[in-house]
Amino acid sequence: MANDKDHLFPRNLLLRQTVARLLFAAPVLSVIGCAEEEDGGCIPYDAYEGRYDTYDRLPDGGAPNDLNCLEVCTKITSHRCQTHSVPTTHPDGGETLEPYTNCYTTVPAGCASDGRRPEGLQAARMEARCALGSHFARMAWLEAASVPAFLRLAEELKAHGAPAELIRAARRSAGEEVRHTRAARALARRHGATVPAVEVAPFSSRSLEALLWENAKEGCVGETYGALVAGWQARTARDAQVREALSRIAEDELRHAELSWAVEAWATERLAPDARPRLREARRDAFHDLERRVAREEPDAVLVQEAGLPSRDAALHLLQGLQVLIA
Ligand SMILES: [Fe+2]
Ligand SMILES: [Fe+2]
Repeated sequence: MANDKDHLFPRNLLLRQTVARLLFAAPVLSVIGCAEEEDGGCIPYDAYEGRYDTYDRLPDGGAPNDLNCLEVCTKITSHRCQTHSVPTTHPDGGETLEPYTNCYTTVPAGCASDGRRPEGLQAARMEARCALGSHFARMAWLEAASVPAFLRLAEELKAHGAPAELIRAARRSAGEEVRHTRAARALARRHGATVPAVEVAPFSSRSLEALLWENAKEGCVGETYGALVAGWQARTARDAQVREALSRIAEDELRHAELSWAVEAWATERLAPDARPRLREARRDAFHDLERRVAREEPDAVLVQEAGLPSRDAALHLLQGLQVLIA
């Protein structure tokens, strides 16, 4: 249970009240039913086609075409691909057409929030035979990916002269994400899934504005929504182990969301006046992207019941309630 000593900077009352009000609408467990125990809810699930893009070239340096482009779709197993080219301007003013490839892959449905993803996070494939295993493996992978994201945030805050309490809070958040990874990995294992390793491209230094853009998307939007979804799961999951794990995670995620807003409040004053509207715009864009993604996906029934994920309608309602804070 969090207490005042866990708080390194003032609580964000508007954020906490908004989240508490929205969670008040979560259906209580007795309403969604918990009469029968099932065998872990491991049932087949519908998959959908996901896509990632790559600018990689063929091993001999040549541009891929539609017949051989699977050779560059190596990050995760792909079943089809399509090539395009995009005009690219070079530092000497010259322009060339650079090839890029859409790689299509099979992705399990029903993903919740993505937490704080670091820049340069490489795609990975979840090895699981059921929806719950796949969901918790992806959750554990994203929790693990949040660790380098917070460590980098702590380093960058220090480099930009941020107050010590923000730096300490970012470091402590990295430690909390390690605990979240362990909890989610245990749930994934229970459903026969393994968690892929996190691979992140090396970080390079960036401006305060670039840091804030990431913080707006991954923190103010991603972790705020993540805290809300975790709180919802802690109340509605039929699986008692999920409720227990998620109630601890939800408390931490709420502090991570508070940290994101505190970082934005501290740093915005240091931005050039013309950069501030751009930052607000980036936050709004991230929010609307999330809204579109949520509107496209109806989580599998087993994820709604056992893992407590909000249904599409419930998730859209939660997002509507966050609009006052975010957009
Ligand atoms: Fe987390
Ligand atoms: Fe987090």
